[in-house]
Amino acid sequence: MNRIFISLAILLTTAFAGGKNSTMKSILIVYGSYSGSTAEIATRMKTTLDNLNCKTVLMPASAVQTDLTQYDLIVIGSAIHGNKPHENVIKFIDVNRSALSKKKVAVFAVCSTITSVKEKRKANALTYPDKIANGLKPIDRAVFGGNFPSSGRFANYMGKLILGIMPGDYRDWNKIAAWATSLARK
Ligand SMILES: Cc1cc2nc3c(=O)[nH]c(=O)nc-3n(C[C@H](O)[C@H](O)[C@H](O)COP(=O)(O)O)c2cc1C
Repeated sequence: MNRIFISLAILLTTAFAGGKNSTMKSILIVYGSYSGSTAEIATRMKTTLDNLNCKTVLMPASAVQTDLTQYDLIVIGSAIHGNKPHENVIKFIDVNRSALSKKKVAVFAVCSTITSVKEKRKANALTYPDKIANGLKPIDRAVFGGNFPSSGRFANYMGKLILGIMPGDYRDWNKIAAWATSLARK
């Protein structure tokens, strides 16, 4: 009787451990970056999610040739240039629209005007995630300040005058890690 009880306990423990492993969240982070700051943000997200026991794969949008059905969540991030998402991200969504529309998708934008002192510019920056999503329905959206290096006095002056931004690295790593952490629970 005792032996039957012990075997049953071992069986249940093994099944439970197996179950736990199989519920490990599988996440793909796809990004488009011109100068590297979005790539670094995406890398920080991967580290955060891996530390939370997620299985996270990180890829530039140009390199994605994978079966998207294997992922529980797909995070798409893009740098913004000229008010537009990175062309590789636009292409990734166009090519994979059908698969993506059946998956949980979260989107983040990396830009400068979210740090602008001009309210209109800031409000416009909040529309970037939906520009990236381009018709998809993300479960979450975020806009992060990026790295905007100085490109000379005249360009800096014009940036301040027109966009209300000053050169600098505006990446808030705590905010980025907090958003990634929230994704692990979705
Ligand atoms: C040519 C150029 C155009 C940009 N256009 C915009 C823009 O329209 N809106 C904005 O908020 N930020 C804009 N930015 C700021 C970038 O989005 C920011 O520097 C971002 O961190 C770049 O990401 P990356 O390093 O991954 O390329 C622009 C930067 C450059 C260099």
